[in-house]
This record gives sequence, C-alpha cells and structure tokens, in this order.
Amino acid sequence: MALKALVTAVALLTIFMAPLATAGDSASLVRGGRLYDNWSLESRGRSPNHPNPAFKAQQLGVAVQDTWRCAECHGWDYKGNHGIKGIGGRQKSDPVAIAALLKDANHGYGELLSDADRLDLANFVVSGQTEMRQLLDLALRTKPAQANADKVFATVCANCHGLDGTRLRQVPPLGDAARQRPYEVLHVALNGHPGGNMPALRTLGEETVAKMLAYLQTLPSINLVASIANGGRLYDDWQVHTGGQRQALPHPAYPPKAYYASAASETWRCKECHGWDYKGNQGQYGSGTHATGIKGVRALAGTDPGKIMVTLQSSSHLFGAVLKHRDLQDLANFVSYGQIDMDSMIDARTGLSRGDTTRGAAHYRSMCAGCHGLEGRFVAKRHMGRVAREDPWHAAHNMLNGHPDDTMPALREIDPKAISDILAHMQTLQERR
Ligand code: HEC
Ligand code: HEC
Ligand code: HEC
Ligand code: HEC
Repeated sequence: MALKALVTAVALLTIFMAPLATAGDSASLVRGGRLYDNWSLESRGRSPNHPNPAFKAQQLGVAVQDTWRCAECHGWDYKGNHGIKGIGGRQKSDPVAIAALLKDANHGYGELLSDADRLDLANFVVSGQTEMRQLLDLALRTKPAQANADKVFATVCANCHGLDGTRLRQVPPLGDAARQRPYEVLHVALNGHPGGNMPALRTLGEETVAKMLAYLQTLPSINLVASIANGGRLYDDWQVHTGGQRQALPHPAYPPKAYYASAASETWRCKECHGWDYKGNQGQYGSGTHATGIKGVRALAGTDPGKIMVTLQSSSHLFGAVLKHRDLQDLANFVSYGQIDMDSMIDARTGLSRGDTTRGAAHYRSMCAGCHGLEGRFVAKRHMGRVAREDPWHAAHNMLNGHPDDTMPALREIDPKAISDILAHMQTLQERR
C-alpha cells in the first residue's frame, strides 16, 4: 500500500517536474524563447526602421518592427507563418550552425544580435520547442477547478496582473489573450515576457503550464460597460484622465488656421475634432470657435472596435505612442457602442433639453446635489446652470460617462430620459440667486 503510494507519487513527480528541454542550459533556453518573442525588447536593441527583406507579406499590415520578430515569421507554434517555413525541422541539430544561419540573407541579424544572444536563440530552436498543439489539447482536457493553477496564479502572477488578470493596461486582459492567442500565451508562460521580470514556468513542466493556460482561459474579459464609460472619459480629455503629460505640439490633423491651433494640448482631445455630439462638422462644432471642418464619428457606431483601434494607432491619429492598449480599447468601445443620439435628448437648434424639469429636479437632488450643491455652485469649475445652457452636449456627455480623472458617476446605464430630465432642471439653475 505504502509502496504503491510512493510509486504513484514518484510517477506524478516525474510528470510534474519533467523538464521540457532534453539538453542545454534552461536559463539560456528561456532567454532564447524571450528573444524569439521579441529580441529587441529583450536585448534592449533597436530593430531597423525598414521591414525585414525576407518579409514578403506587406499587404497584411504588420508593423515594421514586428517583421523582425522570429515569432512573426516562424509562428507561436513554430510551424511557420505568412507562408514561411517553420523551425521544427531544426530541433536537435547543431546550435552553432543555427547561430550562424541568423547572419544569412534571410535574417541579417549579424549586426543586431550579440554572439551570446544568437547562441541563446539557437539553443531555443534546438531544444526549446514544444508541441503546442499537444500542450493546448492537454490544457483543454484539464479541468481548471481540479488544478491548483488558481493558487499558483494568485501567488505568482496576480501581484502584477491582478487576481482577474485585467490589471495591466498595456496588455489585453489575460483571459482574452488566453482564449484568442493560446499558443502565444503558452510561449510566454514557458519563457517569460521579453524585457520583463515575469517568471518563466518552463522548468515546472508541461503539465503546470497547460494547467496555467486552462486557468487563464477562465479569467474574465473586460467589463464592457465600464470600458465604454471609461472610453467616454478618454474621449473628453485623455491627457487629464491618464495623468500623462500634456502634448506640447498641436495634433498634425488639427487645421493650423483653426481657433485652438495655439492651444496645443486641446487639439489632441477627441471632442475637439469630433464634437460633444460626435457629429463633427455636421453638428455643434460645424461653426464657431470650435469649427475644424473635420467629420464626426457618428457613422462609426457599430464598427468592429478592433478596426477603430487600428485607426487610432495609425499615422492619421498617432495615439499608439501615447495611450496604452486598454485605453485604445476603451476608446474604440466607446466609439462603437457608446455614442448616444444627442438629438433625442437635446433640441439641436435651441440647445434646450427635451426632458421634464420636475422629474429632473428630484433626480438632481438625489444624485448630483451631494457634490454640486442644490444650486449647482460647487465642485466643478463652471456653474451647473451655465454649463447646461451654454454647452448642453458637453453636460450630457459628462453625465453619461463621468468626468475625466474624477469620481463623478457615469449614468449611462440609467434611463437616458433621466439624463435629459436632469439636464432640463439644470438649465433652470441661475448663477446668482
Ligand atoms: C522576415 C521573416 C523571418 C524572420 C523575422 C526570421 N526568419 Fe528565420 N527564416 C526565414 C526564412 C524565409 C527562412 C528560410 C526558409 C526556407 O528555407 O524555406 C528561415 C529559416 C530559418 C531557420 C531554418 C529552418 C529550416 O528548417 O531550415 C531557422 C532555424 C530560423 N529561420 C530561425 C529564426 C530565428 C531564431 C529568428 C529570430 C531571430 C528568425 N528565424 C527570424 C524568415 C524569417
Ligand atoms: C513582475 C510582474 C509580472 C509577473 C509576476 C507576471 N507578469 Fe505577465 N506580464 C507582465 C508585464 C509587465 C506584461 C506586459 C509586457 C508588455 O508590456 O508587453 C506581462 C505580459 C504577460 C502576458 C502577455 C499578454 C499579451 O497579451 O501579450 C502573459 C500571457 C502573461 N504576462 C502571463 C503571466 C503569467 C501566467 C504569470 C504568472 C506565472 C505572469 N504573467 C506573471 C508582468 C508580470
Ligand atoms: C486633430 C483632430 C483629430 C483628433 C484630436 C481626433 N481625430 Fe479622429 N479623425 C480626424 C480626422 C481628420 C479624421 C478623418 C475624417 C475623414 O475621413 O474625413 C478622423 C477620423 C476618425 C475616425 C474614423 C476613421 C474611419 O475609418 O473612418 C474615428 C473612429 C476617429 N477619428 C476617432 C477618434 C478618437 C476616438 C479620437 C480621440 C482619441 C480622435 N479621433 C481624435 C481628426 C481627429
Ligand atoms: C461624487 C461627486 C459628484 C457627483 C455625485 C456628481 N458630480 Fe458632476 N462633477 C464632479 C466633479 C469633481 C467634476 C469635475 C470638476 C472639474 O474638474 O471641473 C464634475 C463635473 C461635472 C460637469 C462638467 C462641468 C464643467 O464645467 O465641465 C457636469 C456637467 C456635471 N459634473 C454634472 C453632474 C450631474 C448632472 C450629476 C448628477 C447626475 C453629477 N455631476 C454628479 C463630481 C460629481
């Protein structure tokens, strides 16, 4: 009986502890894996400004730097990508020959990578590749509840990623990544993240890594309504909301002759070009000091948020350099799902709310007066009555989404009628009484 238990324990241990690499130094392997993912981040070297000449699939819109990443051409499952062959055939071959190959015409890493980097990469190619399909199958067969991966995650990973895997704003929630890009996530779990100090799980064995993936796949996606409201606050003023530096040069798409051209940071606000009513040159910003002639984003409602994220990162908008992944995602969700038809709340010609002042007064007392005061005099820079009369679209946008970098609640999930009612009441508030 005792012997049997011992044998089982040993067998379990061997499965659990089986190192993935058959040969080679595991520190070199995992570093090779991280270089394979993104050598420029890992070695803090710069990748060239021109696409890798071996990259023939320009039409796919892969960013220039990414054409230099091994994983882009050879795949996260190492079986090849964009019609380029995989690296599976070179397992168990001579690392010195692989290191030399990285200087050939297909690669041109001679100047970009040190000898030590190339040797780490070669070690990874020769003895660090994993059968990703098998590992994924193992993960899919694993019942996350039976594994203790939740405990490993809570103690090893959650410090940085948060218990639900959504804390880091520079990457998508881990749950989404694990469901949408399982091979990439397995590669990262095995080898760690390039340039970071995330622990590599490789030496703990395939079983552990598969269980981790199974667990990660149960983690939540972003909370869509929270994301939309946050996107609305970023649309208002992302510089204030993210606490980042204010832009010192005008946005290149802002017309140099328009009114706010000399107020550089204002020209970077989405609302400045697309309007509080989201209708750009067809709406309230069609004339007056805010006029830019730029189209609105109203027609983009319902568009795939992924496409909107690409627009925001492209040379037309340049937000990729100043905003994190999650901010871009929130903005895209706002544009796609969060725009409200302002005309249903506010008469576009008179600017008067279509709501009911009596109901609005009650709502205002219960939801707003605590901060803004019964007469609308407190907290905000402008008197509530004045904002509501002069700039009702702005007021409505703030009520729906909250105020940038502030605790003011977003009411977008409350009946939009309540918002126009409150707005109607605020339009009656006088500045001096
Ligand atoms: C722009 C695309 C591209 C990138 C990036 C790239 N390779 Fe390659 N790689 C190729 C091409 C093309 C070949 C030649 C395939 C053939 O012979 O058909 C190749 C061949 C190889 C081979 C030999 C495969 C075999 O079976 O003969 C290895 C190993 C390899 N690459 C490793 C790497 C490593 C490691 C990196 C990252 C440092 C890398 N490659 C980056 C395009 C790329
Ligand atoms: C010391 C902090 C830290 C710890 C601990 C950590 N990570 Fe990370 N992880 C990061 C950072 C930072 C990034 C984002 C890197 C970047 O900027 O691209 C990241 C990225 C990732 C990614 C890539 C996500 C994507 O979409 O590109 C995965 C997967 C991941 N981590 C999984 C894990 C797992 C699993 C653990 C626990 C075993 C873990 N991490 C522990 C900091 C950490
Ligand atoms: C300096 C002015 C400016 C700012 C600031 C600006 N945009 Fe734009 N945006 C434009 C211009 C110009 C276009 C192109 C309109 C056209 O097609 O005529 C555009 C188009 C768009 C489109 C539609 C793209 C398409 O495929 O049709 C979206 C979506 C968009 N902007 C979202 C945003 C968001 C979100 C922000 C804030 C993060 C923002 N914009 C900030 C000027 C600006
Ligand atoms: C928890 C406190 C709090 C509550 C509750 C609150 N607000 Fe605010 N509100 C703020 C703060 C803080 C600001 C931003 C002040 C600033 O930076 O100018 C603000 C700003 C505003 C603005 C923009 C003013 C401007 O000049 O740009 C409007 C409009 C507004 N609130 C309306 C409302 C309405 C309507 C309600 C009730 C539905 C409400 N708020 C509830 C705290 C609150």
